[in-house]
Amino acid sequence: MWFYLMKVFYLFWRNMRIVILSRNPALYSTQSIYLAARRRGHDVRVIDHMRCDIIIERKALAIDYENERLQDIDAIIPRIGASATSYGAAVIRQFELMGVFSVLDSEALLKSRDKRTCMQILVANGIPVPGSVVTNNIFQLENSIRKVGPAPVVIKLLNSTQGLGVVLAETDSSAESVMESFIRLKQKVILQEFIREAEGKDLRIFIVDGQIVASMERAAREGEFRSNLHRGATARKVFLRKAEEQAALRAVKVLGLRVAGVDILRSKNGPLVLEVNASPGLEGIEGTTRVDVATKIIQYVERNARGKWSGS
Ligand SMILES: Nc1ncnc2c1ncn2[C@@H]1O[C@H](COP(=O)(O)OP(=O)(O)O)[C@@H](O)[C@H]1O
Ligand SMILES: [Mg+2]
Repeated sequence: MWFYLMKVFYLFWRNMRIVILSRNPALYSTQSIYLAARRRGHDVRVIDHMRCDIIIERKALAIDYENERLQDIDAIIPRIGASATSYGAAVIRQFELMGVFSVLDSEALLKSRDKRTCMQILVANGIPVPGSVVTNNIFQLENSIRKVGPAPVVIKLLNSTQGLGVVLAETDSSAESVMESFIRLKQKVILQEFIREAEGKDLRIFIVDGQIVASMERAAREGEFRSNLHRGATARKVFLRKAEEQAALRAVKVLGLRVAGVDILRSKNGPLVLEVNASPGLEGIEGTTRVDVATKIIQYVERNARGKWSGS
């Protein structure tokens, strides 16, 4: 009798209404999280944040999705791509202000998405990054390059993803002309020291709720220095050194993220944090490590949003 009561209570209690904010339900990551939520008995929907209206009434906040008022949602799992950062953050903020648990904090998304802001915060908190310069001065480029150089140096667009805005300039003069073009085109860029000894490899460390749940090493394909899987890199499971674990955990903490992918370069002076991804892809990490990261994200939601559900 008790057993059944407990079981009924448990099943009822754990069932939550979860919204995945994603522009594309067919993406591997969206699917993986959706299926994990379903398997654990939750009521889950995928909603396109770009089609959400932010309703600010005189005395209340609400969200309409294609004219349907969203109600009684326990938690959101935002998957915000680079092209929708600003509006995505506004939608997340609206949910947060309405008391809905979010796996991704809107402020943390904004801080981490911009490589410049992200590196400022990391270094201010004692987490090393590759030496970098941000400049708008096309007349002093030689000096700027000297500060991170000599060539080769890395030049990257502030909001680059998948390695698409990242260039290796082999000589000082090519660095100068690339920088000048970007600045004249009003693109926000960073000039960065090239970490040669990383040998085209980097670490992707996946963190859920303050714990490292999976990590892999990605190796660029022949003739390429960018280790993005989208650029044809290969990945394998990796054992982390203590300093790498600490850098990754601290990076996520100071940015205020709870689910994140931290990218680290192994330099001769220890780990350097390259970037912290607030909507990290699941396909590479799940495929490489066989860890069910999506379920870990859902379990994290369960630990935090349950109380709210029983109250609504
Ligand atoms: N300073 C650097 N030194 C060596 N390799 C780098 C450096 N910056 C980036 N890379 C390589 O290029 C890849 C893409 O750079 P990253 O800053 O992560 O941009 P994106 O956000 O477009 O992925 C990295 O995964 C890394 O392999
Ligand atoms: Mg990257």
